[in-house]
Amino acid sequence: MAGMDSTSGTIETAGTSLGDLCNRIRAEIDKLYREGIVYGDNGFSRSLYPTSVTPGRGKFLGDLVREVKPAATLEVGMGWGLSTLHMLEAMVENGGVRQPHIIMDPFQEKNYHNGALRVLRAAGVDRFVEHHSEPSEIFLPKLVEQGRQFDFAFIDGDHRFDGAFLDVIFVNKLLKPGGLMAVDDTELDAVHLACRFAETNLGYTYVGGHSDRGDKGPGRHRNRNSRPRPQVSAYRKPVEEQPERSQIHFNSFFDDFSPYIRLERLASNRLAHEGLEALRKGDREGARRAFREALRLDPTHTKNMLRYVRTYLPPVLARAFTGRGKDG
Ligand SMILES: C[S@@+](CC[C@H](N)C(=O)[O-])C[C@H]1O[C@@H](n2cnc3c(N)ncnc32)[C@H](O)[C@@H]1O
Repeated sequence: MAGMDSTSGTIETAGTSLGDLCNRIRAEIDKLYREGIVYGDNGFSRSLYPTSVTPGRGKFLGDLVREVKPAATLEVGMGWGLSTLHMLEAMVENGGVRQPHIIMDPFQEKNYHNGALRVLRAAGVDRFVEHHSEPSEIFLPKLVEQGRQFDFAFIDGDHRFDGAFLDVIFVNKLLKPGGLMAVDDTELDAVHLACRFAETNLGYTYVGGHSDRGDKGPGRHRNRNSRPRPQVSAYRKPVEEQPERSQIHFNSFFDDFSPYIRLERLASNRLAHEGLEALRKGDREGARRAFREALRLDPTHTKNMLRYVRTYLPPVLARAFTGRGKDG
């Protein structure tokens, strides 16, 4: 591993000035985006997309690092090394890399033919990186065991729910209080859910996000309870120690998970319809039961709340209360 510069407390740059190093990293980033191709060992080559972070997502990541000025950084999933380059560019701009940037990816050699490692070498920043070829679910717990602590983590590894969830859980154990967790592909249900757990149960605060298509975002994932889902999001770990969590209960973290809500809403609408039918037939008990059940499924439905209250009122008052005819 590269030595330390004793005056600045950063990893030495092998005689290159920080300014020159920044230019070299930027030149490599621009070249990769311009050509759209990355090269691996033994003549292997592949398109940069869809694996790599886009320029917009990379800038978002770099700007976070510029702002937070982290000493200790961690990354899950290496791909073609574009996100790593953006983070290291920001760290060099901040005055140098203070600790090796820890990154893990079990498929760098097998699937990526060491493309990212070559990219990092070409940009002159391989000396700042400590790459581990174990999967994050194996390597992150080892870092926990070693008592390691980080200021900033970027997660862009296994995008299945179990993988993303484990990454969030272990990164939470590794981040210092107030540390930042950035996560790519948060528009995906699985990744979004893992991050929502951090927000709803671990006290994380959403600090911002970026979508390549701007405010329009991936609309199909929205529903009326949720905010738009950016393609990359950042969350801050709470500074204060959190109250001990219940061993049994957890806060719901899938409220805005669209398929779930859609099913619940369909069921709630069907019950509301049954309630209205019952009202028409003068069956106030039946209507009350149906509206109560509909509200249990979708408590935000104000109209069903009014309909439910109405079943307790005498018919004349009920009509005055809702201002509607007998069908509510
Ligand atoms: C979308 S790519 C990362 C792209 C990268 N951020 C970039 O900008 O080039 C996802 C990476 O996660 C890696 N990966 C998949 N499962 C993993 C795991 N369990 N642990 C660590 N990395 C994993 C893949 O090999 C792949 O390199």
